[in-house]
Amino acid sequence: MDKIAVLDYGGQYAHLIANRVRRLGVYSEILSADASPDELHEYKGLILSGGPQSVHAEGGLSCDPQILHLDIPVLGICYGHQVLVHELGGKVESGEKGEYGKATFTPQKNPLFEGINETEQVWMSHFDEATFLPEGATLIGSTTDCKNAAIDYGNKRWSVQFHLEVTHTPNGLKILDNFLNQCDLKREWSLDQFIEQELKRIKDQAGDQNVFLLISGGVDSTVAFMLLEKALGAERVYGLFVDHGLMRKNEGVQVKASLEKLGVTNLHVYQGEEEFLAALEGVYDPEEKRKIIGDKFLDVQRKVSEELNLNPDEWLLGQGTIYPDTIESGGTKHADKIKTHHNRVPQIEELIRQGKIIEPIKELYKDEVRAVGEKLGLESEMVWRHPFPGPGLGVRCLCAQEAFPVPNAEELESKINDFLVSKNLNLTAKVLPLKSVGVQGDVRSYRHPVVLSGQADWAQLEAISPQLTNQFLEVNRVLFHLRDEAISDAQVKPGFSTRDRLDLLREADAIVQKSITRADLLRVIWQFPVVLLPLSITTASGEISGESVVLRPVSSEEAMTANFTEIDWPTVHAMTDKILSLPGVSTVFYDITNKPPGTIEWE
Ligand code: XMP
Repeated sequence: MDKIAVLDYGGQYAHLIANRVRRLGVYSEILSADASPDELHEYKGLILSGGPQSVHAEGGLSCDPQILHLDIPVLGICYGHQVLVHELGGKVESGEKGEYGKATFTPQKNPLFEGINETEQVWMSHFDEATFLPEGATLIGSTTDCKNAAIDYGNKRWSVQFHLEVTHTPNGLKILDNFLNQCDLKREWSLDQFIEQELKRIKDQAGDQNVFLLISGGVDSTVAFMLLEKALGAERVYGLFVDHGLMRKNEGVQVKASLEKLGVTNLHVYQGEEEFLAALEGVYDPEEKRKIIGDKFLDVQRKVSEELNLNPDEWLLGQGTIYPDTIESGGTKHADKIKTHHNRVPQIEELIRQGKIIEPIKELYKDEVRAVGEKLGLESEMVWRHPFPGPGLGVRCLCAQEAFPVPNAEELESKINDFLVSKNLNLTAKVLPLKSVGVQGDVRSYRHPVVLSGQADWAQLEAISPQLTNQFLEVNRVLFHLRDEAISDAQVKPGFSTRDRLDLLREADAIVQKSITRADLLRVIWQFPVVLLPLSITTASGEISGESVVLRPVSSEEAMTANFTEIDWPTVHAMTDKILSLPGVSTVFYDITNKPPGTIEWE
């Protein structure tokens, strides 16, 4: 079978490229950046991925230069572009400020750019840049801030500085398609092929063992369940649904009903609310919460196995892990740990090493999981359910012992306010004394959100949000205040994962779910976390006690990058009024941060 090798320089990029190559019908495999020429013989083309490095950094990754002289086409992307320039005798130097976000690319005539426009929007994320081309190489495209943005080295070798694999480069897939056309290969990858191979892989790994699958009612674990049942037969797959008390309103009942409707008969439901909440008592650190929840899932699984008298030697533990869970948990060689997903806690990692875990869709992105679900005949309501994280509301109910004071808050706010004035915006800023998780330059950040109060339209908010996070490194998230008043003070109150706080969050979340269903926005919005902050605000009209709620609707394709979604104002105001009428709600914010720099979930 013909296939493409993607060299992994870290972060999310190599897998996203592999996903895009598959989408174009070609098998792709990820190889380590230090792959030898021998390893590459069986491939029809080579792609060097992006990554968060610098070719000049000590221990900076490069490649075995010989792999660039094999008789197969080569494409370097972002960091891969710099590796090619560096290894083929050109020069890469530190830029002055880097280039992040949308840029306008002007290509020259070249087979790589066949069929694309005279100017194209591309997505840039780099600090270093190519300053001199290798001898004999030709410049084939530039952006305003990056002259050497695309290079042809001859012998079917090219590189581009921009990320062609992300959706923010709208014609990126066309460029990749042009590259594949140069590779003399057959397009043989298809979902049917994937399913067939996966069924075989499941049978091989399971051997005589049965599978005990943690199932949540979401599309990932349901698709994993269906594949396992198809491969092993229904009687050999046992589903365990753990209600951890961090579910949405009425979710436990709905999940059970929808699994039964699917014909899942071997299902055990475990009521774990008290145990989970007891384990989370007094804990506020996001990573600690994630680990506790992940470990508790395993405790429950063991307990249930014992109750059912299942011999551990005869059973594997199944999970519906998908690829982004692995990458965010720092699970590939050069990736930073952004968050520990519940299915990647250390105990699970150990079981993986022992060969005790089976994960049928761990190489797939959400869009592929949905496509497999559709192929297997899953109802569209289930296929298109919004993703819900394993730790549930546990990562949407922010906890605090005390405030995270903002260093030099007054000075920072006055700088941000000056910046807003310089942009002619009628907004005032308040930096909040708490933190949330973000991802910047492929690395985890844990920083303050800034709230903007006042009047602005979506276009203004969309423009100012990245400017603030690029300019003010103390903040990684931007919120818009949905109460028509500026905030003079914001006080953090101690608050943990308690049932009353979770109940309040469940009510706010239910209001949001109902509103977007009524407004027919379920398919427009990819995912809609509603977050509870232990924060009361003071405005000119006095202190408003209670907690704050954040609306975080996002649009995405595979969750590795996302844009905040702009919902029509009447719908936003109607939900806000309803949420504000809940006893104990101080105010409502709208999260206007893209990913990067803010992750989809706050923790
Ligand atoms: P972030 O917040 O990192 O989330 O942008 C990306 C996607 O992953 C989901 N998510 C999880 N899913 N277990 C899961 O099954 C987890 O521990 C977990 N943490 C985040 C998140 O909801 C989003 O869709």
